[in-house]
Amino acid sequence: MKIAILPGDGIGPEIVAQAVRVLDKLKADGLPVETVTVPLGGAAYDQYGEPYPDATRDAVRAADAILLGAVGGPQYDTLPRDKRPERGLLAIRKDLGLFGNLRPAMLYPELAGASTLKPEVVAGLDIMIVRELTGDIYFGQPRGIHVNADGEREGFNTMRYSESEIRRIAKVAFDIAMKRNKKLCSVDKANVLECTEFWKEIVIDVAKQYPEVELSHMYVDNAAMQLVRNPKQFDVIVTGNIFGDILSDEASMLTGSIGMLPSASLDANNKGLYEPCHGSAPDIAGKNLANPLATILSLAMMMRYTFAREDVAKRIEGAVQAVLKKGYRTADIYEPGTEKVSCSGMGDAVVAAL
Ligand code: NAI
Ligand code: MG
Repeated sequence: MKIAILPGDGIGPEIVAQAVRVLDKLKADGLPVETVTVPLGGAAYDQYGEPYPDATRDAVRAADAILLGAVGGPQYDTLPRDKRPERGLLAIRKDLGLFGNLRPAMLYPELAGASTLKPEVVAGLDIMIVRELTGDIYFGQPRGIHVNADGEREGFNTMRYSESEIRRIAKVAFDIAMKRNKKLCSVDKANVLECTEFWKEIVIDVAKQYPEVELSHMYVDNAAMQLVRNPKQFDVIVTGNIFGDILSDEASMLTGSIGMLPSASLDANNKGLYEPCHGSAPDIAGKNLANPLATILSLAMMMRYTFAREDVAKRIEGAVQAVLKKGYRTADIYEPGTEKVSCSGMGDAVVAAL
């Protein structure tokens, strides 16, 4: 198991350090783990003047899986666009062809009070959003800011999907639906955007290979409403890059704690980049306050999707559930009556539970 570790910026190094302790424990128990640590984002800019330098590219290309903390921070916001940390992340996704972004939103029963929604609306919530990650308006050409024919400045981006891009993400989503409850909702805006009308047509075609999966379609504006009205109507959702970006953040907040949510970004051969859904949290960086559980749970997803080690994934998830049951909470999920712990304190608890 060749794993590249990319701590990144802000709280990245703190949370990744706890996940590495989990890896070390698994290694001590016999898991064949080999790691290499390289910078990405602002940390890479500081060292190499580039957010995605050659040394990092070589290391992630050679790895089977990548564990990332988060990138970005206010000190980098004034850099030219192509030097910014977020560019490093877009570049790594594109370079490795990580088109399949899996973002689960699940509510641990121990954290039922963390959601801002009524308990009965979110109790037992367990949905999976499959977001296409390397196409759509984020990458489509032409793009830019220019002076148009009328002499007025305008900004423009292009929503584009090729048939093969839609087919491969649809297959990922149907495969996941088959392993779960055989229910898939494809989200589009086919009533006004041709690109997503095409998306819907291709998803319907791919569905012919999955007769057991119950496929439905929803417009993105309605999906945004339904996610807060009755989120448990969904099981697996598949959608394009921009709708998926927005809906997956919305879905993650149904659980009330972005510090708990992992993600996976996969290529066609299950090589993957695993990272928490949250960012680099500059407001709490360097204070040993961050919740490392999203990063540790990302490691569990790595074991499940890249290494096909469901047993190890379950062991990690079981340890996380056990520490929650024991009442350990970082500040973001703290409630009176539980025991507040630091980032490294939570790492201690997980390693002990393992
Ligand atoms: P953020 O997710 O970093 O923070 C939002 C809020 O959640 C903050 O109050 C933060 O303290 C809290 N939070 C986040 N993770 C936490 C954790 N593990 N434990 C406890 N609290 C946590 O989003 P924000 O503030 O919009 O962005 C900050 C920076 O992160 C920006 O530079 C942004 O570009 C970058 N970012 C990077 C991402 C990535 O690397 N994948 C994703 C999102 C943002
Ligand atoms: Mg986002």
